[in-house]
Amino acid sequence: MKVGILTSGGDCQGLNAVIRAIVLGLKDADKDNIIYGITNGYRGLIDLEYSELNADDVRGVISDGGSMLHSSRTMFKKMLENEHNEIERIKQSYKQLELDCLFTLGGAGTHKMANLLSMEGLNIIGLPKTIDNDIFGTDITFGFTTAVGIASECIERIRTTARSHYRVFVVEIMGNKAGWLTLNAGIAGGADVILIPEMPYDPDAVVSHVQESIEHNDGYAIVAIAEGAKTIAETKLSKSERETYASSGRSASTVLSEYISQKLEVDSRVFVAGHLQRGGDPCAFDKVLCSQLGIMATHLALSGKFGTTVSVSHGRISYNMLSEIAGKAKLVPKNHQLINTAKALGVSFGKSVKK
Ligand code: F6P
Repeated sequence: MKVGILTSGGDCQGLNAVIRAIVLGLKDADKDNIIYGITNGYRGLIDLEYSELNADDVRGVISDGGSMLHSSRTMFKKMLENEHNEIERIKQSYKQLELDCLFTLGGAGTHKMANLLSMEGLNIIGLPKTIDNDIFGTDITFGFTTAVGIASECIERIRTTARSHYRVFVVEIMGNKAGWLTLNAGIAGGADVILIPEMPYDPDAVVSHVQESIEHNDGYAIVAIAEGAKTIAETKLSKSERETYASSGRSASTVLSEYISQKLEVDSRVFVAGHLQRGGDPCAFDKVLCSQLGIMATHLALSGKFGTTVSVSHGRISYNMLSEIAGKAKLVPKNHQLINTAKALGVSFGKSVKK
């Protein structure tokens, strides 16, 4: 068979490990299988940029970070408008390359696009990538575990300098809509306060917990905040008020840190973990997971199970129909076990405690 592989959206650790597993798995099934690496995500199908991948091309890449195929973001809504006939061009390229299947490695946006192309008649198999861990229908996405390790290390390293200088640090962690990364890294890093997009917070409740933490910790406190976390007041703003607020360009972490400084008269600083969380090599867990997901994807292709995406369900490698998961998000439920664990450890989620 002839297949294409592309990586789309923000990168993460483990993309190359998945590409390697697909190439090796398909070559193992039949050395005459042809695999094209499509460059720059869906853009590579629009511009027809690709090269053939053989076993030699993926030797040693299991540990490499980033994407050997590069990536681009797909503006799904724009693509849907199809102003420049991009969907038609993707379909033409698929035909021109005589593909039997296209593997799309990506997050929520990539899966929406994958589902659209599947509905347009292309044979698609998705693979769940993102440090946000927010793809519906899978227990875990690849890249997430590595990012949790990096983000929690950031918190731990910040702790020692916070302690030396009697400072408060507000550590901003990636995650616009989903707080999985902040929740896990916050617990692993021993943060005093964890703020996630799914649980709007009261800044005064944060301030009072920070004050208590400063007392317990002998002079310092750590707040782990997801980039998309919002105050309760912000969730009540109208759309235009939200837009005006967003246009100020000040991040949630900066605003909160200034508020803490002003209310408690402490030295409060911001640390943005940023793209470090997506950079570098995958951890061993992700390398194993990527290998399993990639091989499962080849099994789906060889048995003609298209319009699907590989998943992990109750610890087993499985798959979902793209049509059932596209456009849905897996957010942190307010009653998730981890939230209760964190609360039992004394972590505040920025809610005022009723006396
Ligand atoms: O979706 C992954 C992610 O890292 C988010 O956590 C973050 O909000 C976003 O991508 C950042 O995207 P970019 O690299 O385009 O700034």
